[in-house]
Amino acid sequence: MKAHKPLRLGIAGLGTVGSGLLSLLAEHGESIAEKCNRAVEVAGVCARSRDKKRGAGVEGIPWFDDPAALAADPSIDVFVELIGGDSGPALQSVQAALSAGKHVVTANKALLACHGPELAALAEKNGVALNFEAAVAGGIPIVKALRESLLGNSISRIYGILNGTSNYILTRMQREGLPFAEVLAEAQALGYAEADPSFDVDGQDAAHKLCLLAALSFGVRPNFNAVHLEGIRGITPADFRAADELGYRIKLLAVAVQTPAGIEARVSPTMIPKTSTLAGVDGVLNCVAVEGDFAGLIILAGPGAGARPTASSVASDIIDIARGHMRPPFILPAAKLKSHSRSQMRTHEGGYYIRLSVFDRPGAIAAIATRMAEQRISLESVVQKREAPDLPGFGRPGHEGDPTPVVMITHRTREDLLRSALDLIVKDGHVEGAPQMIRIEAL
Ligand SMILES: NC(=O)c1ccc[n+]([C@@H]2O[C@H](COP(=O)([O-])OP(=O)(O)OC[C@H]3O[C@@H](n4cnc5c(N)ncnc54)[C@H](OP(=O)(O)O)[C@@H]3O)[C@@H](O)[C@H]2O)c1
Repeated sequence: MKAHKPLRLGIAGLGTVGSGLLSLLAEHGESIAEKCNRAVEVAGVCARSRDKKRGAGVEGIPWFDDPAALAADPSIDVFVELIGGDSGPALQSVQAALSAGKHVVTANKALLACHGPELAALAEKNGVALNFEAAVAGGIPIVKALRESLLGNSISRIYGILNGTSNYILTRMQREGLPFAEVLAEAQALGYAEADPSFDVDGQDAAHKLCLLAALSFGVRPNFNAVHLEGIRGITPADFRAADELGYRIKLLAVAVQTPAGIEARVSPTMIPKTSTLAGVDGVLNCVAVEGDFAGLIILAGPGAGARPTASSVASDIIDIARGHMRPPFILPAAKLKSHSRSQMRTHEGGYYIRLSVFDRPGAIAAIATRMAEQRISLESVVQKREAPDLPGFGRPGHEGDPTPVVMITHRTREDLLRSALDLIVKDGHVEGAPQMIRIEAL
């Protein structure tokens, strides 16, 4: 069979992922050309600093200072955006590429979570691909699984561990009993966490990815503002100890689920059974689970970041284009995607873990149980336990009147009822400080 014309790439961004992609093309260029029946060539590159030493060689490849100029240049067929950010050069260059009729491959979840619908519409209008396998969970091929392999299913829930940094921190806290701040400082020193870690530990990064998974699973427009967001800063060693004793692990879980009230999308610290597959996903690994009505439960796990895994996903998108495979970015035409409004967590239903610091006096526990009963909340278990005195907030052991940790697990209830009960418990004056509340996900 006669080979087709080479596919010419313009790569903007030569950092972790861009360099990984150049290495992959150098190592596997020949086999990719065989699989696609055409060569894949790098026709232009662009980054901020021309003088920076690059891991992978860019010598001899035409250099562009302006990503938007590379995006629209006649010498390229595919613009590969690996700059990052939800606006500025990434947005402008992707718009320029799509408008000029170039296919786009990007690893940029922030860009698609904030501008996905407009960019998908622009890609459709110009008859080009907008592929983003690397934008969700690095090397895990979940976008392709949803866009192709699971299309015959109705999906009821998709969930996962989508941020390696926060999963690394939670894993160390759980294994070593260390507080959040100490593990974060260590992760920063080792280069596992950014100097400003908020994007990872406060959940935005996972929420960007969840928007894309929700769009692909439920036919909605990606909408970052629709995701309910809670980070991991408030989780303490006492929570890990209690979770362990009760048979749970705590993970920063991203969940999008079809409910009678619409799609609930949330990223928050969540208790999951120790026996579940996701409970064993530790360190920087990612994992995504999809529940399809015919396929059943499908779980994919692997590296969620890093030069090589992410480049593997970028390459799969490029290979799709080289082989002529074209699909609407979010499965449905952009005009058919439904709107996705913000999740109302007050209507969330499920079990909850509650940790209170209760003043050790007669009648306190009974008064708390009464407040729960008034809201029709039934308790699966109540554990009152004096912790080791070194734990912050738990004072000296064994003195009447001292605050004592009390951990409760509720049966399924509605979140607004639980919040009302906890407000009254605090007002009654039986507890010190704010209650800790963590949702339990049935897996
Ligand atoms: N790192 C991962 O493991 C990973 C995983 C999945 C997805 N992603 C996504 O992949 C994208 C790239 O991430 P990364 O980790 O590779 O980032 P990175 O290492 O910071 O690299 C960013 C690259 O963009 C270039 N750049 C920045 N501003 C520019 C501008 N105005 N014009 C031209 N080039 C510009 C930088 O140039 P200089 O080199 O000259 O500074 C650098 O080469 C992001 O969207 C990220 O979310 C990353």
